[in-house]
Amino acid sequence: MNRREFLTTTVAAGTTGSVASTAVAGERKTVKILGISCSPRKGKTTAAALAICLEAAQAVPGVTTELIELAGRKIGVYDPADPKASQGGFADLIPVLSDPNVGGIIVGTPIYMGNLTSLCKAFLDHCIVFRREKFALAGKVGGVVAVGAGRNGGQETALHSVQASLLCQGMIVVGDGQPTSHFGATLVNDGKDSIASDEPGLATARNLGRHVAQVALQLAATRK
Ligand SMILES: Cc1cc2nc3c(=O)[nH]c(=O)nc-3n(C[C@H](O)[C@H](O)[C@H](O)COP(=O)(O)O)c2cc1C
Repeated sequence: MNRREFLTTTVAAGTTGSVASTAVAGERKTVKILGISCSPRKGKTTAAALAICLEAAQAVPGVTTELIELAGRKIGVYDPADPKASQGGFADLIPVLSDPNVGGIIVGTPIYMGNLTSLCKAFLDHCIVFRREKFALAGKVGGVVAVGAGRNGGQETALHSVQASLLCQGMIVVGDGQPTSHFGATLVNDGKDSIASDEPGLATARNLGRHVAQVALQLAATRK
């Protein structure tokens, strides 16, 4: 088995981890990882958690990142009768998200009532445009971050809800990487709009960012 066959087999089998950094070392491929904050509040804890993820992603050689905040974009409830009418600032994001250089997308949501925000759901529903455009997001790596006020405030529920939408796009959904390795990044707001003291949560954010970056690079290395 040559190196490329090994890599392809490894990715197809869903095996990631320490193999990733060595497997891509000689390929000189680059990928971009986007972070999408679905908080109605700009620059708050969800954006901060995504910034931690992206910092860890960017530490992987060959990876660039960009944080996009949905706050203020006026993305409305998806109306099947007239989807464009409620798109708001989502329209500008269509070419950004579907750019072939984007290898991974990390969606971040605050917890509202035990689940994702309505802004996050509206964003994910508007993303049906990609499914209809030959699955333009298919093959990109997806990760999810959730920030709540409680330790068990609904973070895991929200992760699974967002992951369901990403799976409907044909995306390759991953969780936080080793050693935490569960469903994604889960963080707690300390009540003063800070996540800085949530060391276990910060670890999941770093591990998610690195994992998304490594898998995206692995996949890029298998594509011509
Ligand atoms: C309407 C509303 C509902 C909320 N429901 C929950 C909840 O069910 N569980 C939880 O842990 N936190 C809940 N929170 C707290 C937010 O998830 C938390 O403050 C989060 O850090 C906000 O993210 P942001 O700083 O990016 O806006 C709620 C906040 C609001 C405004």
